[in-house]
Order: sequence, then C-alpha cells, then structure tokens
Amino acid sequence: MILETERLLLRPFYESDAEDVFAYAQDPRVGPVAGWPAHKSVEDSRQAIRTVFAGPRVFAMTKKDTGKVIGSIGLVDRHFGDPPLPDNELGYALGADYWGQGLTTEAARAVIACCFTQLGLQTLWCGYYEGNERSHRVMEKCGFTYRFSRWEDVELMHERRKSHYYALTKSQWEAGRPE
Ligand SMILES: CC(C)(COP(=O)(O)OP(=O)(O)OC[C@H]1O[C@@H](n2cnc3c(N)ncnc32)[C@H](O)[C@@H]1OP(=O)(O)O)[C@@H](O)C(=O)NCCC(=O)NCCS
Repeated sequence: MILETERLLLRPFYESDAEDVFAYAQDPRVGPVAGWPAHKSVEDSRQAIRTVFAGPRVFAMTKKDTGKVIGSIGLVDRHFGDPPLPDNELGYALGADYWGQGLTTEAARAVIACCFTQLGLQTLWCGYYEGNERSHRVMEKCGFTYRFSRWEDVELMHERRKSHYYALTKSQWEAGRPE
C-alpha cells in the first residue's frame, strides 16, 4: 500500500533503504526517546527493515522532492507483551534534520485516514514516554485524546518509564475532520 501526502510518499520499506534509515537512526536524539537504542551500523538498520519495519501496516516516510527515506510510521505490534499494550498503536520516528516542519503530523493524518477508511479499524492508540513533548504534540494535533498512564519496562533500553496513552476513535476522527 502506498499513501501520498503533500510532501511525502508513504510506502513499504525495502532492504535497499538501509543506508537512509541508518542516516537518521544512528542519531541518539531519535531512537532512545522512543524506546530503542541508536543503530550502530547499517546492518542494524537492515535488521530493523527485515523485522519491525516489515509489517504490512508500516510505511517508510519518503520525501517526494529527494526520494530519501527520512523516517518510519505505522501500526506497531507491541501489544503482545505482558501486560499487553493497546492494540492498533500508531508509532513514528523522523530524522532530526526534519523535525518541526509538520511532516510527522502530515504523515500521521494520512495513515489515520487509511486505518479508518480502508483498514476498517474503529480505534487507534498512540503512546509516548514522559517528557517526549514533540510526540505528545503530534498526537494532539491529530485529534487523539488522553486515556491513561502507566509505568512500563522499556526492554530495549533496560529501564522503566512512565507512558501516556492517547486514543482516537473513528467517530471522533469523523467529527473532527474539516468539511
Ligand atoms: C516525535 C517526532 C516524530 C515529531 O516529528 P515532527 O515531524 O517534528 O512533528 P511535527 O512537526 O508534526 O510536530 C511537532 C510539534 O512539537 C512541537 N514541539 C517541538 N519541540 C517541543 C517541545 N520541546 N515541547 C513541546 N512541543 C514541542 C512543535 O512545535 C510541533 O508543534 P506545532 O506544530 O504545534 O508547533 C520527532 O520529533 C521524532 O522522531 N522524535 C524521536 C522519535 C520519537 O519520539 N518517536 C515517537 C515515539 S512515541
């Protein structure tokens, strides 16, 4: 599946994107705040493409003007843990050079529309770790509303953090859409 926005093409990841992924995922500002360590090699990025990015509902955020992969967005399968995390959870990460231009919000709006109009979902979840105000703001701009908070093990970072969960129902999304 491919989604198009004003500035982005959201498409599946290919192994040939590993260099582009490494360019942003090696940056310690990107992964750790989202719960995963910075990539140490292009091979780490290739592994991520083969595993976490391989899901059918995960998109490479590709800049239309350059063709570069600058981030990832999609539904993450984190809900198999114990205790389980919310199903149909939206996750995203963007290269730091591109922060603050509204690109993640633009991509998230397209993915949300796809989830509600094409994938038949009724509720989407999104969560951020305490202090990640950029991510919090993306959720608010997309219309998510606060549901609950809890402490969680962040396995890949070997620490516990407080998580704040937000949700958006299809009816809330429909009510908030511009005419
Ligand atoms: C979270 C992330 C994806 C946001 O991407 P982005 O494209 O910069 O997001 P947007 O530009 O759409 O929106 C960011 C908002 O945060 C705001 N913001 C930036 N710094 C902020 C801060 N310190 N405190 C509060 N808000 C802040 C911006 O002003 C903007 O809001 P505005 O449009 O109302 O001005 C990006 O910062 C990132 O990849 N972070 C690391 C990975 C991550 O945290 N992933 C999410 C895991 S839950």
